[in-house]
Amino acid sequence: MASPTKPQSEGMFALKSMAALQNEANSEGSDSLKRSLGALNLTLLGIGAIIGAGIFVITGSAAAQYAGPAIVYSFIIAGMGCLFAGLCYAEFASMIPIAGSAYTYGYATLGELVAWIIGWDLILEYLFAASTVAVGWSGYFVAFLGQLGIHLPPQFASAPLDVQGTHTLVRAGLCVDPATNQIVTLGGQAISAANCDTSRFIVEKGILNVPAMLLVIALTCLLIVGIRESARLNNVIVFVKVAIVLLVIFFGFQYVNSENWVPFMPANTGKFGEFGITGVIRASAVVFFSYIGFDAVSTAAQEAKNPQKDLPIGILGSLAICTVLYILMAFVMTGLAKYTELNVPHPVFVAIEQAGPALAWLGYFVNIGAIAGLASVVLVMLMAQPRIFYAMARDGLLPAVLGKVHPRYQTPYVATIITGFAATLIAGTFPIGLLGELVSIGTLLAFVIVCGGIIVLRRNRPELPRPFRTPLVPLVPILGILTCTGMMVFLPLDTWLRLAIWMAIGLLIYFFYGQHHSRVRHGNRR
Ligand code: ALA
Repeated sequence: MASPTKPQSEGMFALKSMAALQNEANSEGSDSLKRSLGALNLTLLGIGAIIGAGIFVITGSAAAQYAGPAIVYSFIIAGMGCLFAGLCYAEFASMIPIAGSAYTYGYATLGELVAWIIGWDLILEYLFAASTVAVGWSGYFVAFLGQLGIHLPPQFASAPLDVQGTHTLVRAGLCVDPATNQIVTLGGQAISAANCDTSRFIVEKGILNVPAMLLVIALTCLLIVGIRESARLNNVIVFVKVAIVLLVIFFGFQYVNSENWVPFMPANTGKFGEFGITGVIRASAVVFFSYIGFDAVSTAAQEAKNPQKDLPIGILGSLAICTVLYILMAFVMTGLAKYTELNVPHPVFVAIEQAGPALAWLGYFVNIGAIAGLASVVLVMLMAQPRIFYAMARDGLLPAVLGKVHPRYQTPYVATIITGFAATLIAGTFPIGLLGELVSIGTLLAFVIVCGGIIVLRRNRPELPRPFRTPLVPLVPILGILTCTGMMVFLPLDTWLRLAIWMAIGLLIYFFYGQHHSRVRHGNRR
């Protein structure tokens, strides 16, 4: 077995030894995180991170624009990709139960540079997803307050860099009714400033998305106080949102009009990605966002009581439950409403409306489910990010201050505060559309690398104990790589460009800072 401190190979391909990782996983002390989570809490954390803006916001537009009722197949394809990646995550998480998750798995198998690339890439997944979903939450929350007669000034519920009024991107500004100070809407869609009748209404620029910012700040404070307290809140929220999803499925099925499922897969329009098979695959890349989050369970590895056994349960259990719920939801939504009617910011609500007055009561609960659901996604993403920073800082690739643990709460509080600060700024100033696809491409890249890592470690270290073994290796990881790469290919070119820019920034930081401070390469000399 390799020594805990001696790198197994040199330079930027240095591997972190398995012995060092196992030491870290077993370490106890004042700078360790507090072990308080069991299998149920971990599964609920996964569900907390998974069910959110994807199913409540994105599904409708994906069905309307790309797949029709065959969005059900898109959910199956995206779910398969996640299942392959989830099985690989489960093996790694049981072998290397370290908060760094995919970053650490990369360090053990593919070397420091690849580890850095994954760690940097995971910021796109966790930090940016927290901000993205906070923006979606703000839209639902403001609309909900509106139903209760409480009207927030719209310019303080929208981003200045672009405008998201009632969830619809409006480029030039908000069209606001001066009498009520509300965004002017038509059939649920915000009117763009370009179409605003300025003789009756005024055009306002978004200033800050204050509700999104307040949500991030509140959840950050909770996460500093404790993982157990955060997990408890998450458990309550998950209970509410799963109950509401089950209500929609159960009552919705009784009002389905099966004519809405005909044709199930509308014919391709002649354009690549618009209905037909290519449309179904494009929609799978879009609804992939709905599944993101099951991997966040692995970042709680050092807070799990029995990580070897419970992490695979948490990862695969949450993924399996959500996959079944999503497929059923997709059937119900496209059965209740014609898919062409679902291109709205609140498609679940619109689908329920089609059932008429009999299900009016359920529409109210759907809004509560969305508000609760989106909040828990933000919570778990804000939990996951600081734990990646914590692991990177302890390896010397980021400044040591990010690895500090609060003496009383035993949480990585500095990393949590910095994550919360960055997520607050992004949530306050960016629109949802730009962020969402960046989150998906970043996550897919991490999944591809994790699947590759399993094949490498099986070959290089076959003797290591693996409490959970991915079945059918290398078939399952190869299928994971193919499905996830396939979905990446279907994301727009400008998303690839943003990913490339983000990675270039990351590489500069690694070459100017990380490689000079790496503990694996330089021991504890720095
Ligand atoms: N899966 C999470 C959501 O849909 C990111 O909000």
